[in-house]
Amino acid sequence: MQRSLLALAVYVMAFTVRAHEGMWLPTLLKGIEGDMQAAGLKLTAEDIYSINKGSLKDAIVLFGGGCTAEVIGSQGLILTNHHCGFGAITDHSTVENDLLRNGFWAKDLGQELRNPGLTATFVIRMEDVTDRIVPQLEAGQTEAQRREAVTRLSAPIIKEATEGTHYAAVVRPFNYGNSYYLIVTETFRDVRLVGAPPDGIGKFGGDTDNWMWPRHNADMSLFRIYTGPDGKPADPADANIPFKPRHVLPMSLEGPQEGEFAMIFGFPGSTQRYLSSFAVEYVMEKADPMRIAMRTASLGVIDAAMRSNDRTRLQYADKQAGISNAWKKWIGELRGLKELNTLQRKRDYETAYAAQAREKGQDHYAAVIDQLRTLYGEYIPYATARDLFVEMVYYGPDVLRLADGFQDLIDGHEKLRAEGKLAQAVSDRLAGAEGYFKNHDVAVDKAVFKALLPIYRKHIPAALAPAVLREIDTKYKGSTDAWVDALYARSVFADEIRLKAALRNPSAKAMQKLAADPLYRVARSFFSTFLDQVRPQHAAVGDRIETAMRTYVKGMMELYPEKTYWPDANSTLRLSYGQVEGSRPRDGVTYEPFTTLDGVIAKHVPGDPEFNVPQRLIDLHKAKDYGRYGANGTLPVCFTSSLHTTGGNSGSPVLNGRGELIGLNFDRTWESTMSDIQFDPAKCRNICVDVRYILFLIDIYADADHLLKEMTIVEPPVAPHTIELPIHR
Ligand code: ARG
Ligand code: GLU
Repeated sequence: MQRSLLALAVYVMAFTVRAHEGMWLPTLLKGIEGDMQAAGLKLTAEDIYSINKGSLKDAIVLFGGGCTAEVIGSQGLILTNHHCGFGAITDHSTVENDLLRNGFWAKDLGQELRNPGLTATFVIRMEDVTDRIVPQLEAGQTEAQRREAVTRLSAPIIKEATEGTHYAAVVRPFNYGNSYYLIVTETFRDVRLVGAPPDGIGKFGGDTDNWMWPRHNADMSLFRIYTGPDGKPADPADANIPFKPRHVLPMSLEGPQEGEFAMIFGFPGSTQRYLSSFAVEYVMEKADPMRIAMRTASLGVIDAAMRSNDRTRLQYADKQAGISNAWKKWIGELRGLKELNTLQRKRDYETAYAAQAREKGQDHYAAVIDQLRTLYGEYIPYATARDLFVEMVYYGPDVLRLADGFQDLIDGHEKLRAEGKLAQAVSDRLAGAEGYFKNHDVAVDKAVFKALLPIYRKHIPAALAPAVLREIDTKYKGSTDAWVDALYARSVFADEIRLKAALRNPSAKAMQKLAADPLYRVARSFFSTFLDQVRPQHAAVGDRIETAMRTYVKGMMELYPEKTYWPDANSTLRLSYGQVEGSRPRDGVTYEPFTTLDGVIAKHVPGDPEFNVPQRLIDLHKAKDYGRYGANGTLPVCFTSSLHTTGGNSGSPVLNGRGELIGLNFDRTWESTMSDIQFDPAKCRNICVDVRYILFLIDIYADADHLLKEMTIVEPPVAPHTIELPIHR
């Protein structure tokens, strides 16, 4: 009896501390507080989110547009990823003073580097305002009318929330507009770079290791928020002073312990948890394969070119990283969706949903499935054309955007001339073109064009193809290569000297000639087809899908009220919880949850662009000089946990049950990337830098121990990990 009770207790515990799907609104934590505490949370919901006292949420920062950061120092010191601070780090780097390669550590406040335009935003409060919006909306409104009405109804709510303060506020839709939240924020505009490790540590493993476990990267950088002398947000200025935080996250010297409760607090960007089977079918059978094929083709060209010489490597590093990050993610996503049988599961769910709706006399819910089927039939050609346009024009040959950028000049030259503004417009364009040719290689661009075009033509619905492509058949016997060769041979946009010559005397005649330029015509054809024939329809059908999804998701909650629902990520503040744990990503494969500095050194390849460890780190490893940050004779580096995350969670703090920082989130494993559509507790793991590696790098590697003085560093609890069984004899 005793034994079986005990076994049951262990089973219940094992069950409750499992990975949890969901990105929870901080205002709704009261509802899951019991679950979280059973899983190991030692705090209350009010400790995490409060509008009455300092709480964890006051340490969470929306960093720039799309990352998360957290306050870790009493002087406004914040921690985020290296790849989130990348723009700031590279902006301050020159060949002579290469902060990216060498790392950077400000010795005092005076050395911290300003980054105009970079912002840090805190959430002051969030409030459910659904009741002030939804009852006022009229049935049968189009999405456009509805958006307008929501804006009108939100205006007084926003005014009320911000009047007399320096705060900003927005009203955002959740769950496809079934609910609305007011979000009041405070944004600081003076955010300075404090520290970053060399890229041989902060970007260690590069694209090869990206989205992969095991991982050995300290994807971290440090910034500081400054305020005006009055403590309020201010533009960057000498008189500004360090920000006084309302909450500072303690740093745990104990670090992450396998099996312990963990939570993540940040700004996840977007998920699509409730997609219909029709949408998933599009992703799996069309969008992902088509985009992967195009990027495989362009990466084939770009990677080879980057290997061939240093100039091209530097020219294409940024572009290549942008192309390869999503490419690699989609490959993982597609594989994961197939393994989880997501499409069939969605179809089965829809069948059951319709039956349940009819049984409950809610036929309009059953009908929404058919509506979605019909709508996707209409939508897919436009979605295909739009996705192809983005791949071709924004991730493909850059010359299309260069040439299209001349439209104002070419179409408006008469007006510009009459207003005496032509010379300025021409010299602006020329300056832009100069930068373009410095950062691009025409041969690579042309090869990318050739590699992508056949894939584009294979997938583009005939009615939505740019008319100019017909020339390939009528004049080039169907050879895309011959067509592209001819375009580049004859266009001034493929040659800096010829482009400059064409603009030397910007007469009406010269402008007419430019208008007839082959690459200009092609670029215009791509853009105008998209803007006139694709975008409006894509938006119109997309709106009708949005209306149907609102009903569909509302139906889920009414037809299956016993299930838990969380609103898709939408770049608002969310919390996920789970535990520190490894995974079984594939049959026969187990991932251990921890990596160490030994693994970093084992991957070291002298001189390699991705795997070259700085000598100082090698020396510290040899001397085993880890200070108080080592464990078991080595230094912990990265770990995985079962927290539901997505893009935007980069830089988010991973906290233990006491609200102490144990890690810095920066990625997911490859086998997790389908979690934006379907989460799998057995497989989905986020990847973090261990707090002890972060402290080691600041304190010992960089000798920047002055930064530690403003931190709260917490010693391990005296009697660690005595497991309390919830049974009293
Ligand atoms: N995969 C991570 C994310 O989605 C890290 C990306 C860093 N960039 C890179 N190319 N390694 O943002
Ligand atoms: N690296 C991602 C980001 O920039 C986070 C990884 C993910 O998508 O899970 O937000």
